[in-house]
Amino acid sequence: MKRVYANWKLNLPLPEAVEYAKALFNATQEEARYTEIVVFVSHSQIFPVSAVLQNTFLQVGAQDCSQFDKGAYTGEVSARMCSAAGAAFVLLGHSERRRFFGEKEDLLRLKMERALEAGLQPVLCVGETLEERKAGLVETIIQNQLSILPQNSIGARSWIVAYEPVWAIGTGMNASEEQIEAVHHFIKDRIAQVSGNTPIVLYGGSVSPENRTAILALDSVDGVLVGGASLQLETFLPIVQEAARLGKH
Ligand code: 13P
Repeated sequence: MKRVYANWKLNLPLPEAVEYAKALFNATQEEARYTEIVVFVSHSQIFPVSAVLQNTFLQVGAQDCSQFDKGAYTGEVSARMCSAAGAAFVLLGHSERRRFFGEKEDLLRLKMERALEAGLQPVLCVGETLEERKAGLVETIIQNQLSILPQNSIGARSWIVAYEPVWAIGTGMNASEEQIEAVHHFIKDRIAQVSGNTPIVLYGGSVSPENRTAILALDSVDGVLVGGASLQLETFLPIVQEAARLGKH
């Protein structure tokens, strides 16, 4: 089954988010049987959006969580709080968190631990910048980003990896099929070598109705993580429909 995950980032205001979640559910009742749909919403929207999607096939994720479980950490939202509010997933290490909030491996390792303790399924985002790609560092960078995955949970398939090349995010310039295949195989091979298990790997970065067929058709792509195109039904639905079509076969 191919997955379609939506990252709404810091966009939809609450009334729109709730309306859109309802519309998405109504429009994907058939498709949701053949693909896994998750919407990653801001913390304040986890509870209301989960309420709308309760008893449906659609699931909710958080876009981040604290490295702390509880205590005097003003402004933080813990993984347990996300879970209690209705989230089943959490994005970790998105390139925007790395870039604007300085998140690095030491911090992400702790967030990963808290997320797993809280029963959330983490989606670890990895990917290189254009400079790193030009310098031939793609595998080095990704291997380092993957190093935070806890060895003892590898067999459980309790987390997912999303390959999101930084230069492809929000630029309209998706990675080519060859580039995606090469990195996805690298990720799968590296993890299989240490664990004997092949992980789920999603692609993200300018996924759109135009390129969704080619990207979702790739064997090494277990699904897509969609930003801009996930904000409107008009552009998100064709991506969901294509994933569902593939899931039926
Ligand atoms: P875009 O689809 O807007 O490029 O964003 C991708 C992304 O960052 C998903 O997490």
